[in-house]
Amino acid sequence: MNTQPWRWRLRDATLELSRDPDRRLDAVDPDGRMATVSCGAALHHVRVALAVRGYEVAVRRLSDTGDRLAVVGVTGPAPPSPSACEMAAAIRHRHSDRRPIAATSRVDDDVIAVLDSAAGNEGCKLFRIGDAERAFLGAAVDQAQRSERDDPAYRRELAAWTTHRPPGAGVSFESLVAAVPRPVAVRDFAGDGETGLFPGFGDDRFADYLVLGAPADTALDQLRAGEATSAVWLTATARGLATSVMSDVLEVPSTRAAVGRLLAGRAEPQLVIRTGIQGHPVPPPATSRRALGEVLDEGPP
Ligand SMILES: Cc1cc2nc3c(=O)[nH]c(=O)nc-3n(C[C@H](O)[C@H](O)[C@H](O)COP(=O)(O)O)c2cc1C
Repeated sequence: MNTQPWRWRLRDATLELSRDPDRRLDAVDPDGRMATVSCGAALHHVRVALAVRGYEVAVRRLSDTGDRLAVVGVTGPAPPSPSACEMAAAIRHRHSDRRPIAATSRVDDDVIAVLDSAAGNEGCKLFRIGDAERAFLGAAVDQAQRSERDDPAYRRELAAWTTHRPPGAGVSFESLVAAVPRPVAVRDFAGDGETGLFPGFGDDRFADYLVLGAPADTALDQLRAGEATSAVWLTATARGLATSVMSDVLEVPSTRAAVGRLLAGRAEPQLVIRTGIQGHPVPPPATSRRALGEVLDEGPP
């Protein structure tokens, strides 16, 4: 929902990352798991941004301290790795592209392997949904979306982060496409409301659905899953792929368990990443961000 549920505290040479309790989604995310995944993605962006500026950093991830999640410290100078440079360059171009993937061909296996390796560097793994499993995933997503749509609290929360979104946050109609037939539906943010993005020429037939799995389901796993999401998404962006992520199927306990069965105990599902060849060459618009002062506490001058 583009809540940007993070807060940073700068103290001396350390940056402390916490979940922002004012940005909780009580209906969609009562346990705060997606907020933690989101914070993990922000943490990875910070790691990349510092690395490309020549800083070596150490991250202390906190496992049992409520909203406090991690402390990032600079440990010295270090030349950035080629992958840090590639990911840093992709930060400005990475957007959620919810338009259908091109009806030309599927992403090559070796590119999926590169994405999996990006997830692996963050302690996670990607599970590529095969043709035989796609209908199962599609049905689970439909079920999750029905269950959320039937919940008045969900509908209120969706409206609060779309139609009535606060300044600098939420999902605007400009980054949404009208509902089109797809093998696996993306979240319907707009309902009967306006959508501003031309869907393009794809149909998602060749979309890849990559279930991001972590070894377990602790807050630490969710944080690492967020870091892996960022690493995969930036790597995919650097290769010109269109990408969006899907969490609705993991927000409803019964469909979350169904996706878990697809992984057959090999990992705990944390997010679904949908990627493929762009169905439209013009990039989707950038979404809004909160003012820096709202998310960064620089402490006493
Ligand atoms: C944990 C998490 C869950 C998300 N779930 C969904 C989702 O279910 N459907 C969707 O279309 N986008 C989803 N997103 C994408 C966000 O809506 C998106 O990142 C945000 O609106 C900012 O837009 P941007 O990615 O273009 O910068 C999710 C993002 C995160 C970090």
